Amino acid sequence: MNGTLELISKRRSIRSYQKRDIAETDKTKIINAAMRSPTAGNMMLHSIIEVEDQNIKDKLVKSCDNQPFIARAPLVLLFIADYQRWMDYFEFCEIDKMIENDEVIKRTPQEGDLMLACCDALIAAQTAVIAAESLGIGSCYIGDIMENYEFHQELFDLPKYTFPITLLCFGYPTEKALNRKYTARLKQEYVHYKNKYRKLGNTDFKHLYDDRELKNYAGNVKNFGQHMYLKKFTADFTVEMTRSVKNAIKQWCA
Ligand SMILES: Cc1cc2nc3c(=O)[nH]c(=O)nc-3n(C[C@H](O)[C@H](O)[C@H](O)COP(=O)(O)O)c2cc1C
Repeated sequence: MNGTLELISKRRSIRSYQKRDIAETDKTKIINAAMRSPTAGNMMLHSIIEVEDQNIKDKLVKSCDNQPFIARAPLVLLFIADYQRWMDYFEFCEIDKMIENDEVIKRTPQEGDLMLACCDALIAAQTAVIAAESLGIGSCYIGDIMENYEFHQELFDLPKYTFPITLLCFGYPTEKALNRKYTARLKQEYVHYKNKYRKLGNTDFKHLYDDRELKNYAGNVKNFGQHMYLKKFTADFTVEMTRSVKNAIKQWCA
């Protein structure tokens, strides 16, 4: 295994950080790496906000489904799908005049543009994760930043054509965090297909999560699937995320 592959295989989410600052030079290396990530049409459809203000970090703890480690992370980066910069630039470049003169279609960013901008932002985020890892700095994604859209919009002054797609917490891992067992992944045959999608059947499902079945489940829950349905798929945070994202898409497309 080469050094890059080893780094990737040894990465795990880090939620417990040493009380040690990350040097400005290392922060710059992480952001620079993110800025070198691939970007659709070379348009850089994303922005990054470094959350320095402890007061804002404290607010994020609550608005992102009560996750206290956000407040303790020495570096917190918000990755934003961003079409606003282009829309403002188009205006600066007097696109309206061109439309009037040349029968060019007039459009505003829609669902496809949002998806593409999210791809950009997430690819930049993961590049930052790997860059940090190479510096001995651990990280953890906070998907719950997609909840409470209206609150986050106000908190960060986010204009119409932006969407906060992910938040990343960074810090030097504590000894305990480094000793935590690695999380399991699915067997590759259930994820990696060739040429066509393979819809799984009963025989596959018998084995899909056989290493994750718990000894006891609460209440009437009988198996891992039922457990996950309650714990994740119908959980309050999932319901809130759906409400929040629906409203964000509605505003973006209006
Ligand atoms: C899109 C996304 C959102 C996530 N959101 C959270 C989160 O809100 N809180 C958290 O503690 N971990 C979060 N994680 C981390 C996952 O829980 C973690 O990657 C997964 O359990 C596998 O563990 P590992 O990264 O240590 O291998 C998120 C990961 C991804 C990719």
